Amino acid sequence: MTQDELKQAVARAARDYVADRLPVGAILGVGTGSTANFFIDEIAAIKDRLGGTVASSEATAKRLQGHGIPVLDLNDVAAIGIYVDGADEIDASMAMVKGGGGALTREKIVAAVAETFVCICDASKRVAVMGRFPLPVEVIPMARAHVARELAKLGGTPKLREGFVTDNGNLILDVHGLSITDPIGLEDHINQVVGVVTNGLFARRGADVLLLAGADGVQTHLR
Ligand code: 5RP
Repeated sequence: MTQDELKQAVARAARDYVADRLPVGAILGVGTGSTANFFIDEIAAIKDRLGGTVASSEATAKRLQGHGIPVLDLNDVAAIGIYVDGADEIDASMAMVKGGGGALTREKIVAAVAETFVCICDASKRVAVMGRFPLPVEVIPMARAHVARELAKLGGTPKLREGFVTDNGNLILDVHGLSITDPIGLEDHINQVVGVVTNGLFARRGADVLLLAGADGVQTHLR
């Protein structure tokens, strides 16, 4: 199967998960990226069951609205039943690296509100130790050089994502060459650097459910 076929398969499995477990009229959180895009296209078929969605990026909001799926402001929502999103890497503890699409801050906010985080991935995203995928860090523009110096002290090589501005008007530093053996410790440490908005480690709030698509079909893993 191609990677796109795996993404399609896991998106369909996530649609079924939502249809089975999200009460009719409840709010669904929707992630960002190519796997999330397959999921958005799948949930068009069950849109009448949803009380609405909260989007983790402007791109996701636009795609949802293109299907006629209502997108709500998070501030107008009391609860999100399920949040479905992809990841760049996920380890055995269900900690993730996210932010390849630059939406990490809004993704982390939606994930924090959601009762259940369902991560949808193809099998290439499952790793023993995270860090091969560069860790995205969203920074306030005036703090870019300061934050880059602090990130370099961790042993990684921060690189500015050229020509990219987040939905929040900030920059992304992608940190190459890390070996993330303590995801919670590193997430906390980087978030303490002044000028960092947040980083792409989702360890404190990892996934509750992983739907993982491989050659043998879609496997379900629980935290
Ligand atoms: C976007 C993300 C995505 O979930 C992550 O980059 C995975 O994307 P894709 O499904 O395209 O591989 O965190 O900010």
